[in-house]
Amino acid sequence: MRQKVTFILGIESSCDDTSAAIIKNETILSNVIASQEVHKKYGGVVPELASRAHQQNLIPVVNQAIEDAGIKLEDIDAIAFTKGPGLLGSLVVGTSFAKSFALARNIPMMDVNHMHGHVLAHFIDEEGKEKPRFPFLCLTVSGGHTQIVLVKDYLEMEVLGATIDDAAGEAFDKTAKILGFPYPGGPLIDKHSQVGNPDRFEFAKPSIEGYNYSFSGLKTSILYFIQKEVQKNEKFIEENLSDLCASVQKTIINILFSKLKKAAFDLGISQIAIAGGVSANSRLRSELELLGKKHGWKTFIPKFEYCTDNAAMIAITGKYMYEKNIFADQTVAAISRLNI
Ligand code: KG4
Ligand code: ZN
Repeated sequence: MRQKVTFILGIESSCDDTSAAIIKNETILSNVIASQEVHKKYGGVVPELASRAHQQNLIPVVNQAIEDAGIKLEDIDAIAFTKGPGLLGSLVVGTSFAKSFALARNIPMMDVNHMHGHVLAHFIDEEGKEKPRFPFLCLTVSGGHTQIVLVKDYLEMEVLGATIDDAAGEAFDKTAKILGFPYPGGPLIDKHSQVGNPDRFEFAKPSIEGYNYSFSGLKTSILYFIQKEVQKNEKFIEENLSDLCASVQKTIINILFSKLKKAAFDLGISQIAIAGGVSANSRLRSELELLGKKHGWKTFIPKFEYCTDNAAMIAITGKYMYEKNIFADQTVAAISRLNI
């Protein structure tokens, strides 16, 4: 007997991207993302404006995802949505939409942990791409999180280490702000680094125990260094921009990999993945490949589209919950702080 095909609608609204995706088994049929430009002029995400923009964008984004997938609204068998972690007002928009949609269509819903989503993006079907085998390690690096995750099974994960202050994405974005870039500055640091000398400037690295991270000291040392140099030469940033970017980028990546390597050696795990917005960084991606070759690791790097926040990763996580009959009921509520 042929198994019935299941179509799942995924919804992501945890920060400043409104996204909807349709998944059929492990194949993404559509993944529509509306990024919010409104925050650029404020130098960071303004929570109230983010919730409002989600409310405006969500229905058009869902309609587009259904159209792109070439299916009908009635074909959708279940809905998965991000319950947390994230900005509460933003999460509430996606959660309320999912509850209404499930009620109106009389279909089940799955309340997804955003951090599971980033990790499980590695299981989306991609031609010619191998998927990780359990257990593997995943370095999840985004604007809100920096975690080394031991992934034991699809929905069974343990955080071995995390940042005690700023996330890696924040380290990129805050440095970018000091250098005069608009928000989010991470991709711009990446771009300018391409032509910069990463060994030109040295910045202090934190000494934190175990597998944890700290990035706030680095940000302060960069700020003081630049203030001092600008006093001597007001064109210092302008004249050294690409070398500054490349040196900062190298420092952040060295910090990230020093702990990841430690975890891999201690646990004897050789399947290593990266995930989250910062995994779009070109040096992080190429360094992981180099490390993989050096240490005999099998490395997993997500497609760009699945690095930053997207609903495809929420849809695939929802699929694994659907298969295990893990459903939410109408009393479910968004949670801004949610552990893995
Ligand atoms: O996962 P994500 O889209 O949202 C959160 O859940 O936070 O990650 C966004 C973060 C931002 O800090 C952004 O600057 C960073 O990812 N990012 C990058 C790059 N692309 C995005 N950082 C460095 N290099 C990049 N190419
Ligand atoms: Zn994220």
